[in-house]
Amino acid sequence: MCGIVGYIGRQDNPRLGLEALKRLEYRGYDSAGGAWFDLGKRKVSVLKAVGKIKRLEDKFPDYKISGRPFIFHTRWATHGGVTEKNAHPHWDCQKNVFLVHNGIIENFKDLKENLIKEGHRFVSETDTEVLAHLVEKFFQGRLEEAVRKALSLVRGTYALAIIAAKDPEKLVLARNSAPLLIGLGQDEFFGASDPSAVLAHTKKVVYLDDGDMAVLTPANFYIQDFKKNRVDKVIHEIDWTLQEAQKGGYPHFMLKEIMEQPESLANALRGRLITEQGLAKLGGLELVEDKLRQVERLNIIACGTAYLAGMVGEYMLEEYAGIPTETDLASEFRYRKPILDKKTASIFISQSGETLDTLVALREVKRKGGLSLAIVNVVGSSVTRETSAGIYNHAGPEIGVASTKAFTSQLALLALLTLFLGRQRQMSFVMGQRLAREISKLPALAAETLKKTSKQAKKLAKKYHKFNNFLYMGRKYNYPIALEGALKLKEISYIHAEGYGAGEMKHGPLALIDKNFPTFAICPTDSVYEKTFSNMQEIKARKGKIIAVATEGDKEIKSVADDVIYIPRTLEMLTPILAVMPLQLFAYHCSVLRGHDPDYPRSLAKSVTVE
Ligand code: AGP
Ligand code: GLU
Repeated sequence: MCGIVGYIGRQDNPRLGLEALKRLEYRGYDSAGGAWFDLGKRKVSVLKAVGKIKRLEDKFPDYKISGRPFIFHTRWATHGGVTEKNAHPHWDCQKNVFLVHNGIIENFKDLKENLIKEGHRFVSETDTEVLAHLVEKFFQGRLEEAVRKALSLVRGTYALAIIAAKDPEKLVLARNSAPLLIGLGQDEFFGASDPSAVLAHTKKVVYLDDGDMAVLTPANFYIQDFKKNRVDKVIHEIDWTLQEAQKGGYPHFMLKEIMEQPESLANALRGRLITEQGLAKLGGLELVEDKLRQVERLNIIACGTAYLAGMVGEYMLEEYAGIPTETDLASEFRYRKPILDKKTASIFISQSGETLDTLVALREVKRKGGLSLAIVNVVGSSVTRETSAGIYNHAGPEIGVASTKAFTSQLALLALLTLFLGRQRQMSFVMGQRLAREISKLPALAAETLKKTSKQAKKLAKKYHKFNNFLYMGRKYNYPIALEGALKLKEISYIHAEGYGAGEMKHGPLALIDKNFPTFAICPTDSVYEKTFSNMQEIKARKGKIIAVATEGDKEIKSVADDVIYIPRTLEMLTPILAVMPLQLFAYHCSVLRGHDPDYPRSLAKSVTVE
């Protein structure tokens, strides 16, 4: 997610905004910018830079600037490349309205077309810029009135900070599904994405809610909802340190990112499901839609957790889209003699979009002329630039080295891709509707899963964290989840953990099992339940302890498992998204209980840019 800072009050030094913006760097970004009403020139000045905030700071003039209100922004690009032109703030034709935005304007294309027809001139490729021209269209002297009218036409998510040269004693904030707060200082007010940006000045904050618009002047502020009703808010006293604030009050980024999966799943799905028609709408694939109709085989190529997401996708695509699919480790793919033809499409999954093994495999595919698609979180990263088309996760920056929200976001996108390709082929309208409806429930089901399993996962970690060996087993859609659960435990708690297909027990791993070698059995009520259940009985017969992940309502499983973590019922192909969450939490708590830092595990990097 990007970072937003706004200010209006007694101080007139925009560098204060720059310092506040630096407190939001941890949120991840690709470019930065700021704008202030220059009290001397009586007009708004703007500075922007691609890359680190330092590059923006270097553009500041040496002489003292006297400017307020001001707004600053770090961008996490979603629409439009990482360029200075696309960096925020964006402004209108008259250079009156200046704004910074966090989120996605879903209907920006239609709005932009109409505004261009009305004579507005655009300079950037972003979705955000339409907001500046829309406010311009309605501006008649009072900024807040123009903003309200503009936002009534907008569909999407936004946290906004807006100023206007022709209404300079005002800072307007607006929020819809993206975090935004007001910092209450001494004769001064701040707008910010999170408390980190304002803690140096005040501990008093007011959180805006969806639909709120705040109008701030140097003397006071008020908040209205979208019906113009005045809204009173609780003033919160933030007693976090800066570091705690950057983690949203969580002790580690990894836990914060696990707990924000309902939001990251909602962002992954936003605007991409047409439930009543049983369709997925993937704008990033529009250019290759006809080519995809001709595809007869799919390769999924990735590393680590992204590879395991691909393994789940393989089951989805074969079962529901009827397309032969294979998943390859990128580091192995290039040493094979892959048979690629015009009917084969290769899908590259990567959170960072910079994993060298994945990039090298991608270049190998392109040499052979195959269609290449990306499922990537970081906009503008190498994998996105080198593939023909793709789908962005919109999961926001993932800071913990262990991938969590990016993984479940990848699974959600693979489910959307399955729906998209399936409906191009034999999938019926009815099945499409059913799939779309179940996929749309994922954010709520994720929230329910986290609510119901968080305490239990911590309790189980306390009970099991001293064991030095673990087996994880699952079948079909949850075989890759067994591998992922083992990978999470390995990479952040350094406990030896083996992930296996449950059907493999008799082919060797069963020899490992005794009372000192516990097993995680992922055994939801699905098409392979009985088989996995009998594997659990084999484990129990060897005195192996079992923690089962099961579907709510399954009482039978208690007869064989020592501990049971229940997840809500959903479509079999979507259970991996819920089943993995307690495993993420278990690994996280084991790491902390063993005295490690889950965010920065030894010997590992967030993005492996070497082979
Ligand atoms: C997963 O928790 C690890 N951090 C690692 O396996 C990671 O998934 C792998 O390096 C791939 O990274 P990418 O998704 O950025 O390409
Ligand atoms: N969608 C906007 C853009 O791509 C804002 C992205 C953000 O949240 O930083 O510029």
